Amino acid sequence: MKELPTIIVTGASSGVGAYCARALKAEGWRVFATARKTKDIAALEADGIEALHLDYCDPRSIEALVAMVLDRTDGRLDALYNNGAYAQAGAVEDIPVDILRKQFEANFFGWHDLTRRILPAMRRQGHGRIVHCSSILGLMPLPYRGAYCASKYALEGLMLSLRQELIGTDIHVSLIEPGPVASDLHENGLPQFRNSIDYENSVHRDAYRKLMDGMWSGSNHARAKAGPEVVYAALKHALLSRRPRPHYVVTMPARIGVLFKRILPASLFYRLLAKNT
Ligand SMILES: NC(=O)c1ccc[n+]([C@@H]2O[C@H](COP(=O)([O-])OP(=O)(O)OC[C@H]3O[C@@H](n4cnc5c(N)ncnc54)[C@H](OP(=O)(O)O)[C@@H]3O)[C@@H](O)[C@H]2O)c1
Repeated sequence: MKELPTIIVTGASSGVGAYCARALKAEGWRVFATARKTKDIAALEADGIEALHLDYCDPRSIEALVAMVLDRTDGRLDALYNNGAYAQAGAVEDIPVDILRKQFEANFFGWHDLTRRILPAMRRQGHGRIVHCSSILGLMPLPYRGAYCASKYALEGLMLSLRQELIGTDIHVSLIEPGPVASDLHENGLPQFRNSIDYENSVHRDAYRKLMDGMWSGSNHARAKAGPEVVYAALKHALLSRRPRPHYVVTMPARIGVLFKRILPASLFYRLLAKNT
């Protein structure tokens, strides 16, 4: 019997990861999906998915995940989809260094750790696909998202270098750059913001109030946002195409952003972006 293709999908408790894990399973993949909470692991298992614990901020959980998956697959893994992340909000001058480090631990160092632990298996078997869910905010900044933008910019640099280092092998690295997608990303970031930023005493308190009325009020769900299936379409191309692309810019606002970045003078482009808070 032909073996199913295997993939790790991280951050599968909600949003894009939850959708992609189930869609891949429905399309015949053997999916190892990760989550942090017991109830989310149980929900994935109830849908027939092999669910495992992973917290990118805990290197032991990364090591344990890789050991468990490779044990179950006799050392093979066709693909890795790094997806789990959170969005730390706050003005750059208000973000304590330890909070910035935590953002990088979850969104950057953990992704690096998991990727390099998987690579030896891909090299042994002679092929593999590594796909990262970056963000349009890894290509252009927004105010009050500095920590998140920095983690995604860093990811772009690291993983594009890896892509170059893998030229000549059949292991391919791609980055997906979504614009706004309906998910729990902003809501999940709100407690982090409240716990880490002294927003009531900040010079930016009026801007924070605006953010709370907009991004965090739930009204962003009401606005037209793409669904996770647009990210899934890019993921599938990166997994299955003979020539997976380095970048998949996903959603119309993201594509317009890339076009404007190309054609507008930089100072005008960044000023326009700043109005888009
Ligand atoms: N939604 C957007 O507009 C948008 C736009 C561009 C890029 N993205 C990217 O899309 C990806 C998926 O986000 P989403 O929009 O689907 O948001 P989401 O619904 O908040 O999902 C984020 C997932 O990441 C997990 N996660 C958070 N911190 C983690 C950690 N330390 N270790 C392991 N997993 C962790 C969460 O698990 P818990 O439930 O345990 O917290 C959750 O499963 C992220 O990489 C995000 O940066 C999203």
